[in-house]
Amino acid sequence: MRIDFDQIDQKLKYKVMTASVIPRPPALVTTVDSHGEPNAAPFSFFNCFSDEPPIVALGIGRRASGPKKDTGRNIEETGEFVAHIVDESMFEGMLKTASALPQGINELPLAGFETIESDHVVPPRIPQAPIAFECRRYVTVQCGMARDIVLGEVLAAHIRDDLWDGGREYINWGGKFPIARLYGTLYASLGEVYSGQAPDPDELLK
Ligand SMILES: Cc1cc2nc3c(=O)[nH]c(=O)nc-3n(C[C@H](O)[C@H](O)[C@H](O)COP(=O)(O)O)c2cc1C
Repeated sequence: MRIDFDQIDQKLKYKVMTASVIPRPPALVTTVDSHGEPNAAPFSFFNCFSDEPPIVALGIGRRASGPKKDTGRNIEETGEFVAHIVDESMFEGMLKTASALPQGINELPLAGFETIESDHVVPPRIPQAPIAFECRRYVTVQCGMARDIVLGEVLAAHIRDDLWDGGREYINWGGKFPIARLYGTLYASLGEVYSGQAPDPDELLK
């Protein structure tokens, strides 16, 4: 089966892309509008792409009716966001924040999330999240009319105390990994975990 992307509509492109690149980690993103009103929504077009500078990316679409989503508009106006990694305890709440509520309504209390002040940016942080990245917009790439790819520079990472192994300076998930989005309404928890590493070139060539 070959699908030429110049022959198909946006809906099928979405289905092929999102069901091919799986799993993707949803980020629960908090922003504030120009009046300081908080907003939250999940984005699974999300990943990290660089460590120096530390960069994460969000792919933010428009609403079916045309206007920017609140998250996209807020980042455009303020240049700031907090991207939270989501664990199973946050799953139901995360889904509530995806509801297309009218602009200016704060999804966070409706979803049952408490927030605290961030240290470097105005959008609030959800302390329940295993990890939160305080981010400042690095650059926004407008892809066509319908999608903005926002690169954010991570100013600070908040790692929940129970996950941080200070002695060895690493994140210890203790087997309870973040949730993974598959496609449509399907999600997954990570199953079997195994280890591997690239061979030494001399080993490979001998
Ligand atoms: C798990 C999950 C992942 C999502 N990922 C994205 C995404 O990557 N990009 C996007 O534009 N919308 C995504 N959505 C839809 C937005 O969360 C939804 O449109 C939301 O209402 C936007 O809220 P806002 O207007 O407050 O920004 C996702 C929804 C869910 C449930």
